[in-house]
Amino acid sequence: MAYTLVTGASGGIGMELAKEFARNGHNLIIAARTSDKLEMLKTDLEKKHNIEVEVFVADLSCEEERNRLYSYTQSHNMEVEILVNNAGFGDSNAFLDAAWERQRNMVELNNLALMHLTYLYGNEMKKRGCGKILNLSSVAAFSAGPYMSIYYASKGFVLSFSEAIHEELKGSGVTVTALCPGPTATGFEKNAEMKNTKTTRKFARKLARKLN
Ligand SMILES: NC(=O)c1ccc[n+]([C@@H]2O[C@H](COP(=O)([O-])OP(=O)(O)OC[C@H]3O[C@@H](n4cnc5c(N)ncnc54)[C@H](OP(=O)(O)O)[C@@H]3O)[C@@H](O)[C@H]2O)c1
Repeated sequence: MAYTLVTGASGGIGMELAKEFARNGHNLIIAARTSDKLEMLKTDLEKKHNIEVEVFVADLSCEEERNRLYSYTQSHNMEVEILVNNAGFGDSNAFLDAAWERQRNMVELNNLALMHLTYLYGNEMKKRGCGKILNLSSVAAFSAGPYMSIYYASKGFVLSFSEAIHEELKGSGVTVTALCPGPTATGFEKNAEMKNTKTTRKFARKLARKLN
């Protein structure tokens, strides 16, 4: 059976995307770490729409967990026809003051997980001659981000990577799209501990003055 796989579907943008796919009749695999939120979403969507929703609880920043997800879908004959690489987070700190583990984890989730799932499911799609991959980038992809340097760079990576492989896959039946939202009210700001937004705004104003 064909499915749309949405990572980070337990809240925010991922949950809204999952709801939209459900409204359009897609069966879903929803993945994130928080089991109860995913189960609630499954119950809600299966009640409202004539679709199947599979919950997959995983920390996608771990390679073994991503392999487990892939093996699960393979062994259950779940064809991922649309992959939405949405799971991601930010961190607000000067790079040298930030916790190393958190920065590493951010790159692992925002970039490596996205690359890895694209690699695994992208190859399946290419073999079938059809499929769609939607990668969550950000407006942050278009500039440097002092006090959120790794986050901004991670989103630049997502945009550049997506554009490049979209080109490589031309004619294969597989498309790759990067979504670049601006600030959106979700759990993101709290998770990123964005206490430096004032500083970032001050920097942006200074930069704008210099460019004038
Ligand atoms: N909000 C914005 O202003 C904004 C703007 C541009 C781009 N974006 C991008 O949009 C995407 C979604 O962000 P959001 O704003 O919706 O943030 P959010 O509300 O914090 O949601 C993040 C989602 O990712 C999941 N997640 C986090 N760490 C994970 C992990 N290790 N393994 C698996 N799932 C994990 C979270 O679920 P669990 O905690 O249950 O794991 C949650 O479902 C991100 O890639 C973000 O960079 C956001």
